[in-house]
Amino acid sequence: MHTRSSREGPTLIKPILGATQVRKVSTLAPKEKITRPLDVDFSQIGRDGYQLVRGFGLDTARLETELCRVSGGKLFFSARLGSFVHEFRVLPYSDNLSEQAACGGYHTDFMFQPHPPAFVALLCLRPDPKHPVYGRNQVVHRDAFLERMNSIYGVTQTDLLERNIDYSFPGRVPISLPVLQRFGDQLILTLHTSLMPTGNLAAFDNRPLKMMIDAVCSEVAQDVVLDRGDLLIVSNHAALHRRSECTLAFNAADRSFASREMATIRFDR
Ligand SMILES: [Fe+2]
Repeated sequence: MHTRSSREGPTLIKPILGATQVRKVSTLAPKEKITRPLDVDFSQIGRDGYQLVRGFGLDTARLETELCRVSGGKLFFSARLGSFVHEFRVLPYSDNLSEQAACGGYHTDFMFQPHPPAFVALLCLRPDPKHPVYGRNQVVHRDAFLERMNSIYGVTQTDLLERNIDYSFPGRVPISLPVLQRFGDQLILTLHTSLMPTGNLAAFDNRPLKMMIDAVCSEVAQDVVLDRGDLLIVSNHAALHRRSECTLAFNAADRSFASREMATIRFDR
């Protein structure tokens, strides 16, 4: 039988002073009302590629306040959304990759910008209707990725730094970018397998780089299951991330779809 530890919540103290019994009740709020400051372990994120904070809660304003504090005010503002927080959900149809039910590709957020954010915070507001089998997240650390690309395929860091991948978009100028870039004193991955050309690439000895990357990532990825209110903080420089397949649950009463809902904030430190 399990007993509650006295460290789990407020304690009731009954000191005996002479013949008089004094009851002293803790003035702490009940355990569920206590909101501790968000403790971001940057060394863990650098080592593992991510940190999982269970039970952060659903308050996106608090998420913004806490990340503003830990980042020293270095939050990324979205001019398109007019906010720091981006809330999104899986939809039956969307052009936006983050809103699609299909499995996402491994990627770096804002990879085409000269300064991609260092961290991505992902807060689960509502898990997938078929949680926890669907709607997971995967994280791949750069070092494991580089080791496997080299040991399995003989693709070196130098290859990935010097050989560009061409990303083309309908009606827009193509963008050419290496998979790996020097960024200050570190190496960061800049890729998106959903946008990457499929098939063999001349720059990689006529081999299918996207398939090679997907195979390596599937082996070394950390699988993360977010419950409602859980917060995942991913390194956007030392890791790749993606979302696994999601589902939609149709509600006949109001003819709406229930689906996974998330809030995200990108930040530096
Ligand atoms: Fe992302």
